[in-house]
Amino acid sequence: MRKKIVAGNWKMNTILQEGISLAQEVRDISGGLQGDVTIIIAPPFIHLTEVKKIIDGSRILLAAQNCSYEDKGAYTGEVSAGMISSAGAGYVIIGHSERRAYFNEDNRMLYKKVCQALDHDLTPIYCCGERLDEREAGTHFGIVKGQISEGVFDLDEENFRKIIIAYEPVWAIGTGVNATPEQAQEMHRFIREVITERYGKGTAEDTTILYGGSCKPSNARSLFSNPDVDGGLIGGASLKADDFAGIINSF
Ligand code: PGA
Repeated sequence: MRKKIVAGNWKMNTILQEGISLAQEVRDISGGLQGDVTIIIAPPFIHLTEVKKIIDGSRILLAAQNCSYEDKGAYTGEVSAGMISSAGAGYVIIGHSERRAYFNEDNRMLYKKVCQALDHDLTPIYCCGERLDEREAGTHFGIVKGQISEGVFDLDEENFRKIIIAYEPVWAIGTGVNATPEQAQEMHRFIREVITERYGKGTAEDTTILYGGSCKPSNARSLFSNPDVDGGLIGGASLKADDFAGIINSF
């Protein structure tokens, strides 16, 4: 079902004690927030269990930032979807552009991760988005279509309906240069058309599509007010509880 969501991706920031403090601040602020926005935070793996204790009983939900494409076994250093689920998270970010760029994750590997997540009752937040050179070359629609069709279109409709999409243009991530509301709306509408071709209009309209890339309190309202933008995946601004709350309040 289509939802309004603001998800904070902490990336590789905060040592455990800082993460605990940040989670406490976000929890305390969230108590006073109005509206029906689903609030998710994605701390580093090693914080999940402690953060879960802090947010239990609040409206904040928990995500991991990645998972293995293997189920279990001799894969030193990997973290499985089952482990994440058992730590109390309900969501997992899959295919963030930083993972694609720095850890060579490709669409077919990401499909396996999405399947692992679904097998362990985690909701995948599947990321897509073009680089600046791809946008300048005019190939951005094709790139995003490829990321989505190769990454998640082998799912049957029932499983596809469980996932969340995040459109994050790489050139907007951490740069301070957000996509304009028009650019975001244009791509989100396009993504809904691509989903319509594969699964039909009903499923496309029910899919939650988040925008990510330099989203902050000052631009969130103009981004979220677009008909096809259902919320945000927030990096830098999710590390400050006040900014994160300001974004949540932007619906
Ligand atoms: P940013 O990151 O908000 O810092 O641009 C967004 C993301 O990478 O999810």
